[in-house]
Amino acid sequence: MHRIEELWSIYQNKFADTGLKKGAFSAPGRVNLIGEHTDYNEGFVLPMAINKGIFMLGQLRKDRMVKVYSIDYDHLLTFQLEELTFDQENIWVNYIKGIIAQYRKSGYDLTGVNIVFTGNIPQGAGLSSSAALEVVTAYLLASLHEIKMSAVEMALLCQRAEREFVGVNCGIMDQYIAVMGQADHALMIDCRSNQAQPVPLSDQGYSIVICNSKVKRELVDSAYNQRRNECFQAVTYFQQKLKGPVKALRDVNLVELQAAAADLTEQVFRRCRHVITENERVLQAVTALRANDFPEFGQLMIASHLSLRDDYEVSCRELDCLVELALEKKGVLGARMTGAGFGGCTVNLLKENRVEAFVKQIKAEYQEKTGLVPEIYCSAPSNGAGKL
Ligand code: GLA
Repeated sequence: MHRIEELWSIYQNKFADTGLKKGAFSAPGRVNLIGEHTDYNEGFVLPMAINKGIFMLGQLRKDRMVKVYSIDYDHLLTFQLEELTFDQENIWVNYIKGIIAQYRKSGYDLTGVNIVFTGNIPQGAGLSSSAALEVVTAYLLASLHEIKMSAVEMALLCQRAEREFVGVNCGIMDQYIAVMGQADHALMIDCRSNQAQPVPLSDQGYSIVICNSKVKRELVDSAYNQRRNECFQAVTYFQQKLKGPVKALRDVNLVELQAAAADLTEQVFRRCRHVITENERVLQAVTALRANDFPEFGQLMIASHLSLRDDYEVSCRELDCLVELALEKKGVLGARMTGAGFGGCTVNLLKENRVEAFVKQIKAEYQEKTGLVPEIYCSAPSNGAGKL
């Protein structure tokens, strides 16, 4: 990671001082502990911010130009505030353009800006590097323009940028946790009310270990939208069938689902079963964590993985392999795929004193089984976006 002084010196090599307001900011990646594919069903999720992030420096300009230098791509791009077109070649800049477009759409009169950024969140690994880029950009622009907005408003603005500009129909989880993460806490987000409760998750002899399968999530966008549609299809059915109001799968329980089995396709039935049981598991996981019942938390993670694998069908051979290998290891309480699926990472809960052995064994065994070299990261729950 670049130290802040180094980043400023890279900045000064690229840009002249405009004499206007400047600042340095960061936003983290995230790992979701439990509650997968529940956010767009207005359910519950329990992510934590991780100790990897995006670091961005910027200064306002007197004109209407935006100049962005990506240190990691060693690429400088320039565009006008009024000229926000999708860039097919430099995908990364679209997250920045998307945020600017949303501020403008909300009526904020932005001026030009010079930006330099770098990051250490692995891309395409399901650790939300894109949400971090959106959030750090939103944070920088809000700070430099002295725009006051609540954390939830900022998360929603970033989600709209991703949906409308980048074209990925995501839920709120990734942007929310990148804004609101708290050190030593996971965050239980109610994706209907958009309210969150921090749940203490500090050391106590257990560690969160993330295994990157190194399978890039290629299918993810089309399969993601397909899963969403299956859920929405079920909602339309339940709206006609049930007496109470049904806005999302959040409003349907297991008994109601079972009673509808004959009317739904077997596949849609399983999708619903995942969402309904996963919401339940998040609530149980929060109770377990508050009671320091880590073994129970681990069991819920395992059940979540099986449900994602068999009912929601968003796992893949490599993720299953990582989970199976993990569960054979001493001191492992739980393991599951995390994020949208089809590749990316697993998240594991294990005894801290077993981490070293775990890392060594998983690396060797996963490579032997798949030919892929995994990357493994340990992270305590970290803070959300902030000033550096
Ligand atoms: C992606 C989306 C999130 C969420 C997860 C699955 O990360 O961006 O909104 O839906 O997948 O839980």
